[in-house]
Formats: sequence, structure tokens, C-alpha cells
Amino acid sequence: MSDAVSAAWDAIAAVPRRTLGELFHADEGRAARFSGSLDLPGEDAGQVRFDWSKTHLDDDLCTAFEALADAAGFAAMRRAMFDGEVVNPTEGRAATHAAMRGSGDAAKAEEAAALLRRMEMLVDAIHDGALGNVQHLIHIGIGGSALGPALAVDALTRDGARVDVHVVSNIDGLALERAFAACDPATTLIAVASKTFTTIETMTNAASALAWLADNGVADPSGRVVALTASPGKAVEWGVDETRVLPFPETVGGRYSLWSSIGFPVALAIGMEEFREMLAGAQAVDAHFQAADGRENLPLRAAFSDLYYARIRECQTRAVFAYDERLALLPDYLQQLEMESNGKRVTAGQEPVSGPTAPITWGGVGTDAQHAVFQLLHQGTHVVPVDFIASIAPGDTLDPAHHRILLTNCFAQGAALMAGDKGEDPARHFPGDRPSATILCDDIDPATFGALIAFHEHRTFANAVLMGINPFDQFGVELGKRMARDIEAGGGTFDPGTRALLDAAGLG
Ligand code: F6P
Repeated sequence: MSDAVSAAWDAIAAVPRRTLGELFHADEGRAARFSGSLDLPGEDAGQVRFDWSKTHLDDDLCTAFEALADAAGFAAMRRAMFDGEVVNPTEGRAATHAAMRGSGDAAKAEEAAALLRRMEMLVDAIHDGALGNVQHLIHIGIGGSALGPALAVDALTRDGARVDVHVVSNIDGLALERAFAACDPATTLIAVASKTFTTIETMTNAASALAWLADNGVADPSGRVVALTASPGKAVEWGVDETRVLPFPETVGGRYSLWSSIGFPVALAIGMEEFREMLAGAQAVDAHFQAADGRENLPLRAAFSDLYYARIRECQTRAVFAYDERLALLPDYLQQLEMESNGKRVTAGQEPVSGPTAPITWGGVGTDAQHAVFQLLHQGTHVVPVDFIASIAPGDTLDPAHHRILLTNCFAQGAALMAGDKGEDPARHFPGDRPSATILCDDIDPATFGALIAFHEHRTFANAVLMGINPFDQFGVELGKRMARDIEAGGGTFDPGTRALLDAAGLG
């Protein structure tokens, strides 16, 4: 850690701690000053509002974190990422996910636009019946090749989908069997989504899906397959016709790949025009993230809050509650984004990190979670910073009472966490002063959705830069994979405990 970075952390730690109540008391304009908003593009353009007033961020902390951002070279790293320079040094790669939605380096954005047009041609052709009657798509992928599509399809097709999409990730055959049960093989396409086109779960599931088509009378099963990959050669070798291979650049990381051809099931379900609206929403966040500085930069300000709780208040987890069924899968998505990106123990320079890195991201959907885990948030011994995410417009068409109760509960939880309550006895005492932030959207439409995801991508990047971490590699997932391969191949030496488990399962 450089002297400047170390001094900046010391300054952050030295900022006097005030309670949320004290912060509000001292500053009448706090609610407005610690909020921000983003305008979205498009005809019915909405807004996304961000409210950090119920976090412990104050002017002194923001100033101290701005000094950290300067010392950590945030502006230069941000420019390097958008310019397509190598920002993933351990793999010698750029990180060009923003180019996939038209931001940053012009040549990379142009290349991305061409790939998008190729995807558009296939999506339109399928919608026009070029591959016959297509009613269902089984999208097979895992991790970054599944979580984004699953979330986006779930969020954006609540009013109906042009094609019924099932995302299957787990190697447990039950997951695939459930999709089979919901689909008619005669009208089903298979998308095989894998950046590397080697992932064992995906390739095993893909082979079983082809066998299912063949067993159910489909004459040319491989003619029903679309490949979404950064390894097009491997897809062709595997038997996918080149015309149905939708490539994306190797510089797009798995967990950042929703904007690439990995988003094919989303485009097929909602239509290409809406898919482009999703990209435009993300692009609006890119423009803001590139132009705004210091606390005015919303993803960066979120990272100030994240790091304050992780490193200074030693909070081990951070929770995200979507008060909207459309975003029910968002906590799962953010878990991979944040924990696979920043769950690291060395810096980009391969030195030990100087403090805790990514908190454990968890969460759920409101109001369900209130009746399950909020007890700990209000009265447990852990302090958990919470993000609430809600939409002013409802996702349902029932009695407006549903949405009113949903929103009032969301806002009440933030207020209660902060205010606490003396209670009649210790069991009924709520300590309060527990932090939360609220992200309030006008609606969950494609542009808003794209903006929400891009906001979290940049928040993750900002966290990484301020900690000196490379957020774009994920070597931590390799060791377990290697050992599983060893077992599968009948080799490897294992500890006695593992050996006993293998024997018990008949795998020894
Ligand atoms: O095991 C982790 C991981 O490498 C993720 O980073 C990635 O999103 C996922 O596996 C799937 O990889 P692929 O798209 O190459 O099949």
C-alpha cells in the first residue's frame, strides 16, 4: 500500500463516529444532500433515485474517501477500463463489458455493435419463424452465463414473453428434467452459453438436452442449438453450425456478460428493441460513471459506504432486499458479481490486501424476508448494512393495496433500523442506528433494469480500485474444479475424510 493510500485510510478511520440520529439532527438538508438520481434515456424516461442519508456517510467521510480515490488512482483506472487497456493483469486482459453497450473505446464499441447486429439477425429470424415454430428456449449455462439471463428474463417478462425461457445451470439432472417437463421438444431451442465452452456442468447438460430432443423425435437436434461463447471454434467443433454461433470477446468477463450474446435468451424473450433499451439504460450509467467525480459519482459513493462498513465498522456481510418480485433474483446475481469479483486476499500487484475485502453479499425479497431474517437485522449482534430496492410503479395489476403495503413496509424497515426503540425490557429493545440505503426506481422497465445492473458493476469496480484489487479474475474457483476432475479420472490423493465420503457414495 502506498503512503498516500495508507494516510487516506488513517484519515477515514479518524473521522468521528456520529449516530444516524445525530447526523440528521445536525443537517436539515441531509436527506437531499445524501441522495442522488439518474435520468434514464427513452421516451417514457424514468429515474432511479439513490438515498444514502440513512448511512453513516457524512461530509468528512466523503472528503476522506475522495482523498482515498485520488491516492488509489481511481480516475486513471476508470479511464483505463473504458479505453480498453489491460485492467486484469493476472490474465493480461482488458475488461470490455461497457463496450458491449456502446460505451468507451470506439473500436471496441464498433466491434460490439457488429456482434449485436449478428445476434439481432438471429433473434429476428427466429421470431419470424426461420427455425420453425419456436415456443421454448432452454438456456444452459452456469455462473455468469446463467445468473444474468435468469434475472433479466424473470424481471422483464412478468407481462408475458415472446418465447418461454428456462435457464438451467445445475449439473443435478433434476434441474434439466424440470425444464424438459415444461417444454415441448418439437418447439424447443437449446442455447448453450459458456464463455469457455468447456465448463463440465454446461457441456454435460447440453449433451443431455440434445439426447432429449433426439429421444423425442427431433430429426436434427444439433440444428436446434444456438451457442453463446467467446470460444466459437470450440462450439463449431462440438457440432453447432457456424450460423448459430454468437460470439463475444474474451475480454468480457462471465459475470459481466449479460450485454453480450449471453443476453440472447433475454432478447428472444423480450424482443431486440427492448434489449437495446436495456443496453441504453446501462450506457446512461456508463456516461455518468465516466463524467462524475468524487461523491457526485453514484457508484463511487456507494463504494464509499460499502468500504466504510466493511473496513472501518468491520461489518462482515451486506444485505440486499428487493421489494419487488421482478427483482427476486437480484441478490443471487449480486452475490456472484461482488463476491467473485472482490473476494480476494491479494491486491492487483499480488501483495496481501490490507483489510477485509468484499463483504458476504446476501439478501432476499421483501416483504417475505421481514418474516424470516429481519429479526437479526434489528436486534442481532451483527450490524448489517442493508440496501432496499423498490419501484414506485407496481409490477402487478391487482388492488393497489398490494403495492402500497409493499412500499410502506420497505420504507418502514429503513426507518425502524435507524430509529430503534427503547422497549419495555432488553428483549424488546431495538438499538437502532443501523444503516440502510434505498434505491427507488420509477418502474422496472428494460432501461431501468440495465441501469441497475450497470450501477452495481461500476460499484463493484470502484470498491476494487479503492482496495487495490483486480476484480476481473477468479482463480479461487479453480482448485475445487481440479480436484473434482481428479476424482472423476480416478486419480488424486485425498485426505481420509474425503476418502471416506467417496467410499460411502461408491465413488472410491
Ligand atoms: O467457475 C466460475 C466461472 O468461471 C464463472 O466465472 C463463470 O461465469 C462460470 O464459471 C461459467 O463459465 P463459462 O461461461 O466459461 O462456462
